[in-house]
Amino acid sequence: MSSPSPVDAPEHVLKLLSELHQKSLEQEAVISKKRKVFSSEILGDLEDKKSTTNPQIEFDQLMLDKFIALDEDKCQFTYQLINAMGATNIVEAGTSFGVSTIYLSLAISKTKAATGKPGIVIATEKEHEKAEVARTYWAQCGDGVQKEIDLREGDLLETLKDNLPEIDLLLLDIWAALALPTLKTVLPRLRRGAVVLTDNTISGAKGYADLLAFLRDPANGFQNMTLPFTNGFEMSVYHPSDQ
Ligand SMILES: C[S@@+](CC[C@H](N)C(=O)[O-])C[C@H]1O[C@@H](n2cnc3c(N)ncnc32)[C@H](O)[C@@H]1O
Repeated sequence: MSSPSPVDAPEHVLKLLSELHQKSLEQEAVISKKRKVFSSEILGDLEDKKSTTNPQIEFDQLMLDKFIALDEDKCQFTYQLINAMGATNIVEAGTSFGVSTIYLSLAISKTKAATGKPGIVIATEKEHEKAEVARTYWAQCGDGVQKEIDLREGDLLETLKDNLPEIDLLLLDIWAALALPTLKTVLPRLRRGAVVLTDNTISGAKGYADLLAFLRDPANGFQNMTLPFTNGFEMSVYHPSDQ
């Protein structure tokens, strides 16, 4: 018997989450032979086609109506981890239609209540249309979810430059080429013991080569483990030696 969901949320929110995960998986099965979207591979295929359009623009167009949501078990794990850490300040790199964001928001509403600390989920999305859809799902969840989220629209390399509190957890669920620049943008605000979670680090290892080299260089202060979720989920704990 599989264990019940650890997520503490009203029935209508759990039902919405389950429907959104289902839609996301159906979309990915249609566009990817591997049934999962790996940005570096799809971009590579588009580059190989040598069409006249810019592959990055073509890729972004293709993804405009796609969820590409973080897998349900990874979302549940992240929710559990936030509760275990008492994390209240989260950065989500890559929000799309806001599925994983709902878990982050539910988790920090609990940790804020338990610790009395302030906190926020800083969500990021560069596509206005996607941000609007995310907002409608958060509204369906209710004020309890909506009020915990600061959605920063635009290129996250700009929107995350300023006004970041000390960050407990960074979720990297972004196109592979952006992962390392995003980490470097948030790094000065990571607290000691902060956790960085990166999706698809087994299947997407080629696209993440620069990020993984950085995380695994002892000089940069991360202790890493690839968690055995489907396609890998990297958990990196920040323990810089100079703090
Ligand atoms: C894998 S999806 C995120 C899925 C989301 N975490 C979830 O579980 O529902 C990555 C998202 O990052 C967005 N994105 C790509 N480049 C970006 C950038 N430079 N700044 C902000 N968002 C970006 C894409 O539009 C896409 O919606």
